[in-house]
Amino acid sequence: KTFYLKDYMPFGYDAESVHLTFRLAPETTRVISRIRFAPKPDAADRTFFLHGEELKLISAKIDGQEVTPELVEGGLTCEVPGAPFTWEAEVEINPAGNTALEGLYMSNRMYCTQCEAEGFRKITYYPDRPDVMSTFTVRIEGDEPVMLSNGNPMGQGEGWAEWHDPWPKPAYLFALVAGDLVNHPGSFTTKSGKEVELNIWVRPGDEHKCAFGMEALKKSMKWDEDVYGLEYDLDLFNIVAVDDFNMGAMENKGLNIFNSSCVLASPETSTDANFERIEAIIAHEYFHNWTGNRITCRDWFQLCLKEGLTVFRDAQFTADMRSEPVKRIEDVIALRARQFPEDNGPLAHPPRPEQFQEINNFYTATVYEKGAEVIGMLKRLVGDENYYKALKLYFERHDGQACTIEDWLKVFEDATGRGLSQFKLWYSQAGTPRLKVSEDYADGTYTLTFEQSTPPTPGQPDKAPRVIPVAVGLLSPNGDEVRATEVLELTEAKQSFTYQGLASKPVPSILREFSAPVILERETTNAERAFLLAHDTDPFNRWEAGNALAKEVRVAMVLDGAAPDAAYLDALEKLVRDDDQDPAFRALVLTPPSQSDIAQTLFDRGHTPDPQKIYDAAETFTQTLAQQLETSLPRLYAATTVDGPYAPDAEGAGKRALNGRILSLLTRLDGGEQAARQYQAADNMTQQYAALGALLKAENGEAQSQAFFGQWQDDRLVMDKWFALQIACAAPEKTAATAAALTRHPLFSMKNPNRFRAVFGALAGHHAGFHHASGEGYQLLADNLIALDKLNPQTTARMCAAFQTWKRYDAGRQSLIRAQLTRIAGTDGLSRDTTEMVTRILDA
Ligand code: ARG
Ligand code: ZN
Repeated sequence: KTFYLKDYMPFGYDAESVHLTFRLAPETTRVISRIRFAPKPDAADRTFFLHGEELKLISAKIDGQEVTPELVEGGLTCEVPGAPFTWEAEVEINPAGNTALEGLYMSNRMYCTQCEAEGFRKITYYPDRPDVMSTFTVRIEGDEPVMLSNGNPMGQGEGWAEWHDPWPKPAYLFALVAGDLVNHPGSFTTKSGKEVELNIWVRPGDEHKCAFGMEALKKSMKWDEDVYGLEYDLDLFNIVAVDDFNMGAMENKGLNIFNSSCVLASPETSTDANFERIEAIIAHEYFHNWTGNRITCRDWFQLCLKEGLTVFRDAQFTADMRSEPVKRIEDVIALRARQFPEDNGPLAHPPRPEQFQEINNFYTATVYEKGAEVIGMLKRLVGDENYYKALKLYFERHDGQACTIEDWLKVFEDATGRGLSQFKLWYSQAGTPRLKVSEDYADGTYTLTFEQSTPPTPGQPDKAPRVIPVAVGLLSPNGDEVRATEVLELTEAKQSFTYQGLASKPVPSILREFSAPVILERETTNAERAFLLAHDTDPFNRWEAGNALAKEVRVAMVLDGAAPDAAYLDALEKLVRDDDQDPAFRALVLTPPSQSDIAQTLFDRGHTPDPQKIYDAAETFTQTLAQQLETSLPRLYAATTVDGPYAPDAEGAGKRALNGRILSLLTRLDGGEQAARQYQAADNMTQQYAALGALLKAENGEAQSQAFFGQWQDDRLVMDKWFALQIACAAPEKTAATAAALTRHPLFSMKNPNRFRAVFGALAGHHAGFHHASGEGYQLLADNLIALDKLNPQTTARMCAAFQTWKRYDAGRQSLIRAQLTRIAGTDGLSRDTTEMVTRILDA
């Protein structure tokens, strides 16, 4: 069944209050609901349909009288009075048997919930749609030491606890947690002087991993007050860490539930990258309290209303806490790695999709990350002052409502007086625009001409021109900036902009800060790229020039078997040795473009990418760079080693990132001597992990890998790293076999999504290994997706995306992949989630 945006119909009843009682038992939990419904006077449709899935209905009553509802596909219907009435139902559910991790389930003997998007219907019969908002009172009965729900505690006693959430909310924000938990406490005083109790709840044994998350939470609360003027609205804010979780985290009102990998941190067990990500996700979920919870979505087509905005806000936060240019570069790398393949393949969809079969398949990089890019463009177009003016109006006008993208854009139109009908195309058109740039210079006048076009995407053959903000600066040939950054607003398919009074032909720096999520196509030379890498005043574009250069060099190596470009190697050497440059920036410039990105570039230029050749070129390049830097590597290694106790701050992280790049180059030359020493001495996971990776890559890390296992086998999160790293570092011809062997390891588990993703995410992320001509990688992933689908459709469906780029490759690989996709599609009883994904991937 397909759902369409255009079919939206409001529910015919208001839910005025919701009372839930849970009688907890692992296999036979009883849920008793008492809901006050009131017919809406102006409703066009008065069908009383309540969603419900996998529920055993024990009894139902209306105003105290037993009724016999009609059970239908996906829920029930019932004759109801024309005036307000009380609906009561008792159902039985089986949390222990819930391996899909949606609804109420058990993880490590602990009860927990995940309701977004449509999990509440697995808890009780309910109008499970975000535009039905109500206040929830929850009573939990059971013998668990800690029993939590949303809002404020109302009382507790032997075997029970009661909670009340005063803020009306949709059911997807409901949460319940019960189990043997301990808390890491904290507190925060809001700007208006309210004292908020904070807790991070974890399993006994994880207490020492909470301090960083607590600080991140306080920083987030302060930041949202300072930057957006938004204050927390309850007396209590709880975070719970759960080991088995399909996604990163969930913003349930007053009771955020986190994948333990996204909240637990300690220097010994977490890398710098983990710390940065945890800080961002804690902020993200906290920021949802206003952008998501106080103002929610009318329906799931509007998902990017809360997700795009909240990702945008968490990126602003990280930029403020750490380094703005570094965050921007990291985000663009991630956007190109995850969103561009989606936007340019069979799964392409607009940030606001217009149809879906399974909404869980639309928690995508396009909805989240492109959704955030769209807001970044909007902010750039209206300016900072107007942006915050519009946001203020948004919170004033829509607090307590379930809104649409139209509401969002109207706020900007009203606050700024600017029409946004063309801008709105960013929400409805899929695909990454291509921006062709040409230039002209004569008599002091410089002209830039832009042509935009977007290739067809599924269901959208033709695209209209969009509004594209292009931030441009001009440099003189001697490297001075002769025109500061200016935002050119493209609205036509083809459009020119002129600059007057230039003494000589300038070098343009186009799309500074990556001001729009487009693909820039411009004929330019490697010399000019090297010039920008050395002189651009915009740090993003300086990195971008280096990145483009790196790509050109790889492409030439793959296509012509060329040797690595000497001028580029020289430029890199100069930059790496320049201690005036930010170490984090140098580390980013030294990070090679992904092999998948090279494959896409080759494909875009009309070639069929050969994953093995791309891999070989990368190896040759790194080896040559290591040799070129040979004499400076020991000094650089020493100079970038961070002294003193480990602290997960941005400055130390930047230095360690560079140090890690240097170590991997050094290992190319010494076979792992330095890495083995670093492994031995490391007192933090960042350095231990970097050393182990370098050693495994050199096929000289067997002893350290065993030692690592011995040291960390009881830590699930560190073991995920151990599983993933062995696959990531394997040679292409051994990748699938390595992954297959690890699935037979006693600590491998299909039931823990983190472990499954550690293995199969690493396999799919190893470009040459996954796409090895043998097809073993494809087969192994398909075998395991088929097996996982029976337990956990959501995680299975997400991982199908590994196949989305299949049309890039040669006929042999295409037919191997098609065979696997067809095999998955033909599996008996395949979930709706996975069916939708494989058919979309196959159909295009
Ligand atoms: N709203 C959550 C977040 O972005 C994601 C939860 C999505 N869950 C899902 N099953 N699709 O923070
Ligand atoms: Zn979110």
